Amino acid sequence: MARHLITSALPYINGIKHLGNMVGSMLPADVYARYLRQRGHDVLYICATDEHGTPAELAAKEQGLPVDEFCAQAHDAQKAVYDGFALAFDYFGRSSSAENVEITQHFARRLNENGFIEERAIRQVYSPADGRFLPDRYVEGTCPHCGYDKARGDQCENCTRVLDPTDLINPRSAISGSTELEVRETKHLFLLQSKLQHEVEEWVARHEAQWPQLASSIARKWLNEGLHDRAITRDLDWGVPVPTDTWPELAAEGKVFYVWFDAPIEYIGATKEWADQDPAHRDWKSWWYDVDDEVRYTEFMAKDNVPFHTVMFPATELGVREPWKKVDYVKAFNWLTYYGGKFSTSQKRGVFTDQALEILPADYWRYFLIANAPESDDSSFTWEHFTATVNKDLADTLGNFVNRVLSFSRKRFGEEVPAGSEPGEAETRLGEEIARLLAEYEEHMEALQFRKAAAALRALWSAGNSYLEEKAPWLEIKTDKDGAALTLRTAMNLIHLYAVVSEPFIPATAKAMRTALSLQDDTATWVSADEARSLDSVPAGTPFTVPPVLFAKLTDEDLETYKERFGGDPQA
Ligand code: 2FM
Ligand code: ZN
Repeated sequence: MARHLITSALPYINGIKHLGNMVGSMLPADVYARYLRQRGHDVLYICATDEHGTPAELAAKEQGLPVDEFCAQAHDAQKAVYDGFALAFDYFGRSSSAENVEITQHFARRLNENGFIEERAIRQVYSPADGRFLPDRYVEGTCPHCGYDKARGDQCENCTRVLDPTDLINPRSAISGSTELEVRETKHLFLLQSKLQHEVEEWVARHEAQWPQLASSIARKWLNEGLHDRAITRDLDWGVPVPTDTWPELAAEGKVFYVWFDAPIEYIGATKEWADQDPAHRDWKSWWYDVDDEVRYTEFMAKDNVPFHTVMFPATELGVREPWKKVDYVKAFNWLTYYGGKFSTSQKRGVFTDQALEILPADYWRYFLIANAPESDDSSFTWEHFTATVNKDLADTLGNFVNRVLSFSRKRFGEEVPAGSEPGEAETRLGEEIARLLAEYEEHMEALQFRKAAAALRALWSAGNSYLEEKAPWLEIKTDKDGAALTLRTAMNLIHLYAVVSEPFIPATAKAMRTALSLQDDTATWVSADEARSLDSVPAGTPFTVPPVLFAKLTDEDLETYKERFGGDPQA
């Protein structure tokens, strides 16, 4: 059985992320990791904050903090939100860690020894007023393509084109606002990706058949446009320093690696951080080095990250000429929109992950987001859709079932699972249906088809409701007490099954369900097809409690409050 290495795109350090970010990387990775763990696989789920680069320096400056302090605080703030969302990382690291510095420098040295790094003199924007070079976002100006006047030196936010600071019209310093800018020559390291084009093409050709179409089409597009050599160093204070032993002159000038060079290496760096925290993880390298098919590596990311992970980082890994593990499966996501428009921090539109948790517990969000994940296309978040889904799927279909069954049984039969008659035709039919739906659910999870998996989970919950409506124990009890007891015992077995199979989506609720049926030696391992068919894991006589309402129903008033606070349809 292969071990599973899972990573999700590293959230950038400069602020709390919105729901779109969560659904396009960390949340589905967590759902998948939880599922695999329950099925008995050896799983390592790694993520980290991506801490270098100009956005970190600029955000620190805005808050008046030294950048290292800013990053330490911002890391803890993000981690707290992810804990709130119950993301069960094996480790959540920091790309500014000593481990990542060590491995990034090692990668650079190896690339250099293998002839894939070259020093080149290039022309860069220099600001005499600031006494420094102005890389990337340190320059702002007018976009030469669309005329947007707040374009940044790395990219135009308006037309999304990638830019170089020297492309901007009427450039100004983002630090001082100075427009007295010069272009000066300075040396930087270039990664000779053009020399690796052929190898990357071969590597992609060997893997893309098993990737989703979104990932392979983006990889192809980039390869067709050709891999260009690119500068992998910057004139910044904050970053992985260029190693002195290899490039003494550049190191003395204080050059650091570009954020997109060290960020993907942090997947490895964070694994070493994880190991350095605990001697039991001493063999961390067995996840990454010289492992081939013993480890299956799945990466989760939104589509803007795909070129970096299917083409550029593989180029780096290939050029290092060491057997580092490369990605097996790239799960890529489209965008989650807010009423069809962009989530926008500056215009205060959309929902941020910390705000989401202020309103409702994580399970409401986890379920809604995964059930509507932007897999085959962009998908739109609206409060109307959110409240309707919560009410129908979580409150009515699942929550109400659990509460109704347990309260009614307690009222009529006391605080232990009743025995009742032997299962009959309805129970056999139900068992077959549950086994069939469970197999469907498993199939979609294995294929990382999250929306379809959510639909199968919902169908499992619905099957319980249909059974209960059919048997109507509240009527049955008047004529056939043993029959009603059988119905309730069967329904309680469904609750136990739901507790196990819903865990990847709604872990806190799953726990509440499991606690209600306090089974000894219940380890939450997966349900077999036979167990699903026979629905008898919870025997008569098992004590139970009635948990508090699992999901509150959201009212029209709630809906209005949310829309008012966060802004409803921007088109309305
Ligand atoms: O797109 C982003 O937000 C980047 N911080 C993702 C980095 S993923 C990995 F390469 F580090
Ligand atoms: Zn533009």
